[in-house]
Amino acid sequence: MNKASERENVNPLREGLSTRAVPQPCSVVIFGATGDLAHRKLIPALYNLAADGELPPAVTVIGFARREKSDDEFRREMEEATRKFSRQPVRDEIWKTFGESIFYHQSDFGDEAGYKSLAAKLDKIDKERGTRGNRLFYFAVAPDQFEPILKHIKAAGLNEAREGSWARVIVEKPFGTDLASARELNRVVHTSFAEEQTYRIDHFLGKETAQNILVLRFANAIFEPLWNTRYIDHVQITAAETLGVEGRAGYYEGAGALRDMVQNHLLQLLCLIAMEAPTDLGADNIRDEKVKVVGSLRRFAPNEVANSVVRGQYAEGAINGKPVPAYRAEKNVNPNSMTDTFVALRLNIDNWRWWDVPIYMRVGKRLPKSGTEISVHFKKAPLVLFNKQSTEENVLVIRIQPDEGISLRMQAKMPGTSFRIEPVKMDFHYGTSFGKASPEAYERLLLDAMSGDATLFARRDEVEQAWTFIDVIENAWAAKKDAPELFFYPAGSWGPEEADNLLARDGRAWRRL
Ligand code: BG6
Repeated sequence: MNKASERENVNPLREGLSTRAVPQPCSVVIFGATGDLAHRKLIPALYNLAADGELPPAVTVIGFARREKSDDEFRREMEEATRKFSRQPVRDEIWKTFGESIFYHQSDFGDEAGYKSLAAKLDKIDKERGTRGNRLFYFAVAPDQFEPILKHIKAAGLNEAREGSWARVIVEKPFGTDLASARELNRVVHTSFAEEQTYRIDHFLGKETAQNILVLRFANAIFEPLWNTRYIDHVQITAAETLGVEGRAGYYEGAGALRDMVQNHLLQLLCLIAMEAPTDLGADNIRDEKVKVVGSLRRFAPNEVANSVVRGQYAEGAINGKPVPAYRAEKNVNPNSMTDTFVALRLNIDNWRWWDVPIYMRVGKRLPKSGTEISVHFKKAPLVLFNKQSTEENVLVIRIQPDEGISLRMQAKMPGTSFRIEPVKMDFHYGTSFGKASPEAYERLLLDAMSGDATLFARRDEVEQAWTFIDVIENAWAAKKDAPELFFYPAGSWGPEEADNLLARDGRAWRRL
């Protein structure tokens, strides 16, 4: 293409606005469409994209599930769910058009004929709605359903796109329960889809502030020179929830907080904080840098686990003044369950940048407040001036949720004749600075998958590396002899006191949220 025709191809309305690839028209087939995820997240996310004008009008949703129902019944159900869970109120005129792009396909996951008729339906939709043969398969089902679904997708030829079209698959967590099962799952997925077609979702990566970490670090020249062991004392990452297990015991009993949150979400956040600058923003260049961070995490020897990892489980207590039951008394939970609902860890990254900088992570259910944040604690200024008053360290806090934003704690002189130093905060709030609410993580991620941008999805090697780190801890906990203790904490507290001791031993304390 010559320069002149290149210029003609530039859309002046988009120019300078975004460097993101444009989502393409496609059919989105949701397996498990009558489940919780489709109701609470996927359909509301697609609606919001449509309402904000982000979705190509041809995009068509096909709900694939076992129960018998008509398109109209399914549309009504989805409308009700969207009215309940959407981040913005549903506008009737937008729903009318959006609702008409939703279809239902009844079939058992293991029924070959159901996939043949799906293929015929997709061809028809391509002709009638202009979806151009592009297919996005969304697996909102338990992992034990992956194999039959993949097998039949392949048998019906749906994994292979025609010339000029594409086929992609989005896989929901949990992506395995240990390294061996994750490898097996990867093998199964790759029997039908290549790695470039596979999008493993980690919805934390779709959160606006998580994406902002790279901008904060690499679009501002002042932080990067300080971002290393010379200036940083330690880093804390907290993901706290007031919620309990909420009827998910069937899954959670076999997972626990370490697998549910640390293996994926928290390690992903750590990668964004700790990675080196990529050569460019290509998906693989970013993921190459992230995987190096996970690969450099110091692996614990089995006998070190008790010293560096604290596991807890909530006992009865109160959240916002309301009594709540113990985890062991929740529905479908084994009364002797050893499942962790809280974990605190002390980790190290063995590379030059992070040498000797401890990383503390904690995650828990039934804590007093819900909030996810990362705090970077800088080393203290030398204590030689100001009457040797002890000052607090500078802390850069990245609030992932709620009240997304970034703050920097500094020292300032109190007004007055005496020389008193007090900490003050410089604070940036997304809501007030940009005056608009952030989209939900699923909106961004669905759009990226439709655009073929895998940057915010976990690659095979990232997932597998993360499991090699987690497996050592899980194995130590499962050991018959000398397994580290499970500590109980009252619901509504900040976890067992052993989690505080983990930092106190190093002369540090958790930041108050
Ligand atoms: C999910 C976990 O991945 O993340 C849940 O399975 C957890 O247990 C949830 O509650 C937290 O996500 P968010 O976006 O609500 O902070």
